[in-house]
Amino acid sequence: MQENMDIKKQDKDSAMEIFEETKQFEELMMMYECAIQEVKTKFEVLDREFSVRYKRNPIAGIESRVKSPMSIYRKLKKNGLEVSVRTITKNLNDVAGIRIICNFIDDIYDIVKLLMRQDDLRIVSIKDYIRNPKPNGYRSYHMIVEIPVFFAKGKQIMRVEVQIRTIAMNFWASLEHQLRYKKNIESIEGIEEISQALLEAANTIAETDQKMQEIKNKIGLFEII
Ligand code: GTP
Ligand code: MG
Repeated sequence: MQENMDIKKQDKDSAMEIFEETKQFEELMMMYECAIQEVKTKFEVLDREFSVRYKRNPIAGIESRVKSPMSIYRKLKKNGLEVSVRTITKNLNDVAGIRIICNFIDDIYDIVKLLMRQDDLRIVSIKDYIRNPKPNGYRSYHMIVEIPVFFAKGKQIMRVEVQIRTIAMNFWASLEHQLRYKKNIESIEGIEEISQALLEAANTIAETDQKMQEIKNKIGLFEII
């Protein structure tokens, strides 16, 4: 998922012409938007219930985006696939993306546990980059889920990429993404030191997340499950 959640309308319009099946493409993007709405509601319901039952919110914020036509185009080309509605549906898991920003590390695992109990949702895959951080220090809990969405023409099973992270993890990932993408960072002199500094920053942030979690445990904020 791209860190920048805004799709500039102009980009969307111009890139849309790339796709020959414009009408079907537009419809598919609408369907992904609806799938995001469905998944988002699930998280909002959990958060709402917590706030009444336990007087606190595990979720600090929710972001979402539908992948831009240009990114879809690039990803298909990169994978040597033809650009069509069929290949998008079949091969791309991250056209619909939703990011859940939690307050504490435990909130992430509690929310995941509750989501897994919901029988209309199928978990396609999980990548736990919190227990197993990426070598660059990236941390986040990733899931690909499938959810039924009811349209006029019938039920469609839609895929959505879900990223769940703490505020601290999101802080690091957002800045790292900006640095990496805006500055063409690989070509910069001293890239090793920069990467090392970014990794150290990620580790410091992870330590702080851990400390905040320990403080929460000491205060004994209600066990939620
Ligand atoms: P794509 O990169 O989308 O092809 O997916 P993948 O199959 O390699 O999945 P992965 O779960 O590793 O990453 C998916 C998304 O997670 C990315 O599109 C980013 O939004 C986010 N992500 C993964 N790694 C990093 C990272 O090192 N830094 C930042 N800022 N975001 C990352
Ligand atoms: Mg992606």
